[in-house]
Parts: sequence; C-alpha cells; structure tokens
Amino acid sequence: MIDQGVVKREELFVVSKLWSTFHIPSLVRKACEKTLSDLKLDYMDLYLMHLPMGMKPGEEIFPLDEDGQVYSDDSSFLDTWEAMEELVDAGLIKAIGVSNFNRDQIEAILNKPGLKHKPANNQIECHPYLTQEKLIPYCHSRGISVTAFSPLGSPDRPWATADEPSLLEDPKIKAIANKYKKTTAQVLIRFHMERNVVVIPKSSNPERIKQNFQVFDFELNEEEMKTLLSFNRNFRLFSFNWGTTHKDFPMHAEY
Ligand code: A2P
Repeated sequence: MIDQGVVKREELFVVSKLWSTFHIPSLVRKACEKTLSDLKLDYMDLYLMHLPMGMKPGEEIFPLDEDGQVYSDDSSFLDTWEAMEELVDAGLIKAIGVSNFNRDQIEAILNKPGLKHKPANNQIECHPYLTQEKLIPYCHSRGISVTAFSPLGSPDRPWATADEPSLLEDPKIKAIANKYKKTTAQVLIRFHMERNVVVIPKSSNPERIKQNFQVFDFELNEEEMKTLLSFNRNFRLFSFNWGTTHKDFPMHAEY
C-alpha cells in the first residue's frame, strides 16, 4: 500500500514490542532489527518493552521450570532500557515506552542516572472491569501516555472460560450503547477516549474494524462514565501467573 501510494508511511503509527527473552542488552538491537525486517520498514514509531520481567534467552518464547514459573535472565530492565535508548539514537525507533509496568518500575526508569529518553507510553490492560484508577493518573502526571490493551475483553483469548464476566455481553454496558444507537464495543472504546487513554481494539474483520472507528460522533456523559467506572472488580484477563516468583513481577504492587 505504501509502494502503491495508497498511504504514506508517515500517515501510519507503527508500534511493536521487545519480547522478554531479548532483555539482555546485547540482544535488543537484533530483536528490533528482526521486527523491522519482518515488517519491511526502516523505522517504527513506538517500541515498547513488553514486560518488566526479563526471561532466559533462547528458542522458547516462555521458558518455564517444572512449577510453571518463568526462568529469569537476571537482567535489570534499566539496562534493557539503555539498550532501547540506543535504538532511538540510531534512528530505528521514534519513541520508546513500556508495557505492563507498575508505578515503582516506571519511577525507577525516570530516576535512572543518565536517563536519555523518557518512556513515552505505558501499555496496560484496561477496561471497565479493570479501570486502573491510580496508574493512569500517575502516568499522565509524569507526561507518559497510556494505551489500553484488551479493551473489549479479548474474547478470542485461548484461556477464556465460560464463567468469567463478558464485557461485550454486559447488559448494563449494552443499555448505554442502546441509548446512543451504538454497539457495546463502541461504548467500550469511547470509555477510554473520555479518559484521554489510547485504545487498541483488535479485529481481523473489515466490518468490525470500520465499526471500531465510528466512535467520534458521540460522547459518554459524566454519569455514564461513573457507571462504567463502578464496574471495576480488578479483574485481569492477563494475570501473568507464570511470573509471580520473578523479581520484577509487576502485579504484586497495588498499582
Ligand atoms: P474479530 O477479530 O473477529 O473482529 P480485544 O481488542 O479486547 O483484544 O478484543 C479482540 C476481540 O474482539 C477479537 O476476538 C475480535 O474479533 C473482537 N471484536 C473486535 N471488534 C469487535 C466489535 N466491534 N464487536 C464485537 N467483537 C469485536
């Protein structure tokens, strides 16, 4: 599409993440270059550290021990951050950020002696069942934008179970959607826009991709936002329970 002139590269905002088995600083650039080569791009707009937890390098994406806990690589995410800063200086990446980091972990980066590039963004799970009411204002107060992943509850997750709450089927969210003649998905997307949070609903269906963009012609009022926020139950779709014994497991902290 870029070659055909349908879209210009600078009209796209391309984001990818550094996977956790590439946290050792000497592995970071190669991982980034592989992604650029896979995408046939010469730069990305944003590159995120997928998790604060470095994992043992190798072929296995999830190197787990017999107890199902991930093998650490004993790296420090501060050293990984320095290697990511070099990607910006080399022109491969426009901005760098983090994902699934808690407040103290972000503070550690911000307070790192010799910090060259601040995290631009923290990408975290967020939706009405996990409203992140402390982490979002903290990030914003530090000039860090927030991106909400799993805004629709990721119903295609392989580990989804029949008994868990369903955002897309929630009758109270449906009621708000009906009022605006919108879908539940559109209300779930708009929920983040009202909070100045970037939102990335995933769809591989052209009609739903279009639908997910049709969110600029209505607004949720304060009362509706309060109602949606009241659904919080600190329910995580991604609990990373294979990492609970890792030194940098982010979810032991309150936020
Ligand atoms: P599909 O790709 O078939 O559209 P999340 O962004 O929370 O991870 O959720 C992604 C899931 O939500 C995918 O399974 C996707 O299915 C589905 N989805 C995306 N957009 C919509 C929509 N507008 N209405 C219903 N389901 C949607």
